[in-house]
Amino acid sequence: MDIVIRPTQVDAVKLTAMIIADTLRRNPAAVLGLATGRTFQPVYALLVEEFTEGRIDFSGVTTFNLDEYAGIAETDPRSFSAYMREQLFSKVNVSPDRCHLPDGTAADLAESCKAYESAIAAAGGIDLQLLGIGLTGHVGFNEPGSALHSRTRTKALSEITREQYRQYFNNGQEVPARAVTMGIGTILDAQRCLLLATGSEKSAVIAEALEGPITASVPASALQFHENCTVLLDEAAASRLNNTEYYLTTFAHEPEWAEYRERNL
Ligand code: PGA
Repeated sequence: MDIVIRPTQVDAVKLTAMIIADTLRRNPAAVLGLATGRTFQPVYALLVEEFTEGRIDFSGVTTFNLDEYAGIAETDPRSFSAYMREQLFSKVNVSPDRCHLPDGTAADLAESCKAYESAIAAAGGIDLQLLGIGLTGHVGFNEPGSALHSRTRTKALSEITREQYRQYFNNGQEVPARAVTMGIGTILDAQRCLLLATGSEKSAVIAEALEGPITASVPASALQFHENCTVLLDEAAASRLNNTEYYLTTFAHEPEWAEYRERNL
């Protein structure tokens, strides 16, 4: 696990966006696993900028989103489909038939989850999986207690998560009780994982996930099993970590980060 701490949210977001952009420049046919949430909005804004200025091309890219609410149609403005259209898909040249999200309204959800796993496999697997982290320690909507080998399935949302997402559901509409999410096993199969967390409210769960024991009670801790996982944090999100000196030294001196240092990222 490579843990990178940048001074501010803006720095962490920029480095994340540049790692994604470099991935697309190296592999124009990359399969991206996408995350939603507030944390990634500015990352998508920077990717749109890279595209608009002609520095990246999405025409060969395939995407699979981590999750979608159960019972919410893709046309619903509260859906993660709507989020993706608004933040990224409508602003770049990605082919709509190569953009995949779990179907929260499938008549047979179990069957549709299996089909989602098959579609990921048929695309050759995920090259780069973007991840946020929830206050419960979830990645995707894998809430505490999720099996560490789980695959795409429906999952009940915890009260903490529903509270976190209540801001997006106005007019007395309730946050859905369930979601369809890639499993932790699905996420761990990606060639590379990139987790971004910013802000002090994430500091406690980040310390548990990165430096605590691997446990289903903190689903993001399963990323400690992944051989190619990069975690990008701002100082606020990193503020409760113990091994900070080591993480700072790694970014400052290791050759793999040289090109980013040279670009002042
Ligand atoms: P956030 O969500 O980026 O809105 O904090 C992250 C998550 O819940 O996974």
